[in-house]
Amino acid sequence: MGLGQETFDAVDAFVGETLAGHDEALQDALDAAAAAGLPQIQISPPQGKLLQMLVRMVGAKAVLELGTLGGYSAILLARALPEGGRLITLESNAEYAALARASIERAGLGDLVDLRVGPALETLPALADEGVGPFDLTFIDADKVNTPNYFAWALDHSRPGSLIVADNVVRDGSLADGASADPATQAQRRLHLALAAEPRVTATTIQTVGSKGYDGFTIAQVN
Ligand SMILES: C[S@@+](CC[C@H](N)C(=O)[O-])C[C@H]1O[C@@H](n2cnc3c(N)ncnc32)[C@H](O)[C@@H]1O
Repeated sequence: MGLGQETFDAVDAFVGETLAGHDEALQDALDAAAAAGLPQIQISPPQGKLLQMLVRMVGAKAVLELGTLGGYSAILLARALPEGGRLITLESNAEYAALARASIERAGLGDLVDLRVGPALETLPALADEGVGPFDLTFIDADKVNTPNYFAWALDHSRPGSLIVADNVVRDGSLADGASADPATQAQRRLHLALAAEPRVTATTIQTVGSKGYDGFTIAQVN
């Protein structure tokens, strides 16, 4: 097979079938989102499996997600939680949030998931006022221009050992282009510079290919 999107799709499908797992509740969430015309920009099944493994590796009980969309990643994250665990997931679009809430309920995870509607830059301070956290794992997957802001907030609401994962940082390789005119790319570059200057974390970025094309994620652990 050649190097291209067809191959990336085929490999993701194979890994999905063999290792990542899929079931009715996940398919139901994807179908409901597609039927409602939501963009199909959820994480891939192999990425979802990695997030679940990360939740378990750090024994995360308190998980925060920014960017719920139709609830696909929220269902996977919530399923990886231990007894007594909780996922708070933030979504700015009220229609998406309603749809996600319904899918999460149908998946039997309503009690574990607290979905907050509103722009994350507004819902995060509200969470801080409530005194929630620290979070053991934060998954940043909302509006990409704000990833550095979300990272800074997450770091201030983590504990030593916590993980912070930010998706879509490589952006077809534009991450390496300092002259990029794309504000989302410039935000990922700022994220990297902030990480480099931040003594409180150890971080790296992994490039990926897959059903979502060429991209990558940053993973940081709080020291
Ligand atoms: C890439 S999608 C999330 C996909 C989801 N994590 C998954 O894998 O199933 C990004 C989501 O972030 C939401 N979003 C955009 N701007 C936001 C903001 N300021 N605050 C919270 N959510 C936002 C979008 O509406 C969209 O649903």
